Amino acid sequence: MRITFITSNPGKLREAMAYLTPLGVEVQGLKFPYPEIQADTLEEVAAYGVEWLSERIDGPFFLDDSGLFIEALQGFPGVYSAYVFKTLGIDGILKLMEGVEDRRAYFKSVVAYWDGEVHIFTGTVHGRIGLERRGSGGFGFDPIFIPEGYGRTFAEMTTEEKNRISHRGRAFEAFSNWLRDKLKIG
Ligand code: IMP
Repeated sequence: MRITFITSNPGKLREAMAYLTPLGVEVQGLKFPYPEIQADTLEEVAAYGVEWLSERIDGPFFLDDSGLFIEALQGFPGVYSAYVFKTLGIDGILKLMEGVEDRRAYFKSVVAYWDGEVHIFTGTVHGRIGLERRGSGGFGFDPIFIPEGYGRTFAEMTTEEKNRISHRGRAFEAFSNWLRDKLKIG
């Protein structure tokens, strides 16, 4: 079975393959820009993208949408994470968090799969926003996110270590478990 992953990020593609290839699924990456609507939840953004793409892509496919939610900022940047990363950046977030004691935050990832209908899988990792940037690995907000139970940021971890506990890893895991069951039945 071949499934298309709508992404332009080779790291995400490698990660998806690690979960899906063992099921006998061939994952094919495809860069195909799609509209990201302004909505309150990642689920809505992802589901809209999938519906839109379903009229333009043949065969089963999936995409993923993720964001960083900071408790003290009422979930900001959340669905706006990509835009905020490009504009305010890490320094902007650290500035917003100056003097803020409650540093709790979580990353959430939504994987939306299309096989004639939409199926949504989510993964979350809780942690806290560090006081300064640390580490050079990963991408995005990794240098300021310290997952629960760890003293290091995501950017101070190896890719494998981060993927094992990350929001996206968990969403891919839920997706691959569901697919495994489905392939057994179908
Ligand atoms: P997207 O789902 O790739 O569009 O991610 C949206 C934005 O959330 C990215 O631009 C990053 O700023 C942030 N983000 C999502 N996942 C991660 C992650 O694993 N580490 C760091 N930042 C992330």
